[in-house]
Amino acid sequence: MAYKIAIFNMKGGVGKSATATNLADGISRFHHKKVLLVDIDPQGTSSASLGIEIWKLETQLKDVLQSDSPSERKQRLKQAIIKRDSHQVDVLPSNILLAVEELQISGLPGRENLLKRTLSEIDSEYDFILIDCPPNIGVFSINALKASDSVIVPVDMSYVGLLGVQGVEYAFNLVKNFLDHEVNVLGVLATKFDGRQKISKDVLTYLQEYFQESMFKTIIPITVRISEAPSFGVSIFDHDPKGAGAKAYRELMNELLQRI
Ligand SMILES: Nc1ncnc2c1ncn2[C@@H]1O[C@H](COP(=O)(O)OP(=O)(O)OP(=O)(O)O)[C@@H](O)[C@H]1O
Ligand SMILES: [Mg+2]
Repeated sequence: MAYKIAIFNMKGGVGKSATATNLADGISRFHHKKVLLVDIDPQGTSSASLGIEIWKLETQLKDVLQSDSPSERKQRLKQAIIKRDSHQVDVLPSNILLAVEELQISGLPGRENLLKRTLSEIDSEYDFILIDCPPNIGVFSINALKASDSVIVPVDMSYVGLLGVQGVEYAFNLVKNFLDHEVNVLGVLATKFDGRQKISKDVLTYLQEYFQESMFKTIIPITVRISEAPSFGVSIFDHDPKGAGAKAYRELMNELLQRI
């Protein structure tokens, strides 16, 4: 059975996709696990960040979610998943068409469990499934939270980043109260940390005091290399394997695997 992790924060630009792609690539590469990255964000950032040409997709996640029957779902899933070399992460990609279909998908019966149902078809083929969420608590994020065993919450080191944390806690309560699903937080992750800036240190201290053990010890620094990697369609482990970004994501991987 695959262990499923959603990467979630309602705030945009905090490093969800960077974390999803680098973790997914790293776990398959260094830990020799079979990993699937599910992109349930219509921006398609994590798909594109791993070099997938998202404008050329013939079948994608939305087609799988909209399948009418189990047999159609299975067939579309097979067509949509982009299989890559061994020790490389497979990808179930999305693009803007997922947003175009959001209204239709929101009206489907069992709409909150469409992804969970889909992933149950391929559970046995993977060790890990990572799900990159959009920056909101709409139908796609809810599907991701309901399909996951646990959640990583990246938080960037800014005042508005802190405000975003309140939104995340509100969202988890909403899911618990209305959908009867307790969200298990695997860890809160400090991202885009800049040691030269007081605000970074202040926000980090606040988060560590507030979340205590729930906070990952690993801190992801802000680096030019992490921000460049998506434009080359590769993870940080190809773009700058010896740099601070790769080191931090490797540490995060080890910490994460110990927590599971
Ligand atoms: N540690 C980092 N250092 C420098 N740049 C980073 C870092 N993490 C992410 N970025 C950059 O910041 C931007 C936002 O990152 P990313 O797309 O991962 O955030 P996100 O939370 O997925 O955004 P969205 O909410 O829009 O999905 C991107 O340009 C990315 O390359
Ligand atoms: Mg993203």
